[in-house]
Amino acid sequence: MVSEQNDSPVPEPHGATRADRRLQFPEGPAVDPAGSHHERRIRSFRPRRGRVTSGQGDALRRLWPKWGLDIDGRSVLDLDEMFGGRPVVLEIGFGMGEATAQMAAADPDTGILAVDVHTPGQGNLLALAEREGLDNVRVANGDAIILLREMIAPGGLDGLRIFFPDPWHKKRHHKRRLVQPEFVELAASRLRPGALVHCATDWEPYAEQMLEVLTASPDLENTRPDGGYTPRPDFRPLTKFETAGLGKGHTVHDLVFRRR
Ligand SMILES: C[S@@+](CC[C@H](N)C(=O)[O-])C[C@H]1O[C@@H](n2cnc3c(N)ncnc32)[C@H](O)[C@@H]1O
Repeated sequence: MVSEQNDSPVPEPHGATRADRRLQFPEGPAVDPAGSHHERRIRSFRPRRGRVTSGQGDALRRLWPKWGLDIDGRSVLDLDEMFGGRPVVLEIGFGMGEATAQMAAADPDTGILAVDVHTPGQGNLLALAEREGLDNVRVANGDAIILLREMIAPGGLDGLRIFFPDPWHKKRHHKRRLVQPEFVELAASRLRPGALVHCATDWEPYAEQMLEVLTASPDLENTRPDGGYTPRPDFRPLTKFETAGLGKGHTVHDLVFRRR
């Protein structure tokens, strides 16, 4: 069982700002990797926060240069070279990375490009990958939209996973939800025909939005003949946010669509 690394938080120096964190990990993930050459727009994530534990910090220092990637939006990635020719699945918003590591361990012939902005999670996933001896995981830091738009070639991906994206409950925040028509159009353009898009959420209104938006895409078809939700596939482990949602009595919906 792949689980979160448990160790104590490293106190940040008195008065340290988030920008200072780069100083803690000089070879690690950058605070704003795409920088000011990219437009300002509504984002689907909160600023990364949370303390980095000593184990996560150690993993960031040692493993980021080898397995980490800042999303600077400046060049198209050579995924064949990064993953030794394996098919590549993009996971957006891996959180602490437990489910990512478990799925990567269960399917070593698939490369997993895992993206999030959450520094402790990046360290956690790197540590898990090392502990489990995984060579098929790369950790990308920054906005998945910039990654898709600027750094992935059309048809370059063999799959897309979005598990428990931030639900943005309040109406005035709905525009921040990741799964929207524009996003789906961009994502579909980066998938090869036959690639699967797998989403899951425990927030019913967001599940309905996902079903509507994915169904409306001319590039995708629902793998469910009845056009509805898919029962949770065995290969998707329970995630941290899912466990919390189930604890609150929420129903989880999976959606699996195929690129035409
Ligand atoms: C609610 S958490 C779910 C984490 C994990 N999948 C789970 O189920 O435990 C959503 C994650 O998506 C990340 N995220 C949201 N929008 C993103 C984006 N545009 N690019 C990269 N990461 C993003 C957030 O930082 C957050 O860690």
